[in-house]
Amino acid sequence: MVMPQTERAFTPDTVDDAVTVKRITKSYGAVEALKNMTLSFPRGELTSLLGPSGCGKTTLLKIIAGLLEPTSGEVLVNGRAVTGPGPDRAFVFQDFALLPWASVMRNVAFGLELRGVAQSEREAIAEKYIAHVGLKGFERAYPHELSGGMRQRVGLARALSVDADVLLMDEPFSAVDEQTRRKFQEDLLNLVKTENKTFIFVTHSIEEAVYVSDQIAILLPRPSRVSQIIRPQGFRDKDVDNIRRDPEYLDIVDDIWSSLRSYVE
Ligand SMILES: Nc1ncnc2c1ncn2[C@@H]1O[C@H](COP(=O)(O)OP(=O)(O)O)[C@@H](O)[C@H]1O
Ligand SMILES: [Mg+2]
Repeated sequence: MVMPQTERAFTPDTVDDAVTVKRITKSYGAVEALKNMTLSFPRGELTSLLGPSGCGKTTLLKIIAGLLEPTSGEVLVNGRAVTGPGPDRAFVFQDFALLPWASVMRNVAFGLELRGVAQSEREAIAEKYIAHVGLKGFERAYPHELSGGMRQRVGLARALSVDADVLLMDEPFSAVDEQTRRKFQEDLLNLVKTENKTFIFVTHSIEEAVYVSDQIAILLPRPSRVSQIIRPQGFRDKDVDNIRRDPEYLDIVDDIWSSLRSYVE
């Protein structure tokens, strides 16, 4: 019997993998969004999913979150099969998904509220994470009073406050200006260093992926598959302004661009 390529590339789960995606296929009617995808996310690391729009990044994230059922295959989180959403995973949505009628405090505490945590306890936890993302003093503000960057921080604080092992982030920085994005990247990298969590981060920016990631999974579309796994070394410990002139960094960015360019309109 001839084994398909992904079968051979598949590495067995190790204790260090927080999330394992095993031979996932997802069809929307006739559209095969993901085909036989296998991928591991090491614990404590940041893995970026990088690929052109429409290649199934959001679909994969939702399947890991348990918000969407795969057509076939399975996802393991800490060795257990995902059957739905769970407290071990938190989702940071592209559009922030804040409650417009609720204060920053209520929005941040909302994930805990859903889990039945008592008000005083959830507000104490929320307060800590509001400060952690630099929003101290804005507890009583409403989403419409905040900038896009600040709203994104609220979404991040909410995801952190439920203390999930796995943070699923769908292009969290795509709606903010360049300056804010850089500040976010710094914040994110601080979180990766200080919190022993597993970050699964979707971006379509090659530069961003190479800068922030421990591991990059490059996805190619139609149907989506993993074409390459790259482990950039140490760029995020360097100054972000110097990195743009670092020949090693530019080489990796160039290589990735060559493998993706024919898929980008
Ligand atoms: N609810 C849906 N119904 C039908 N097709 C969908 C649905 N969601 C996504 N798709 C299709 O699946 C493919 C992958 O989409 P998506 O996961 O959103 O990609 P990405 O996040 O990488 O842009 C695309 O071709 C998209 O049009
Ligand atoms: Mg998407």
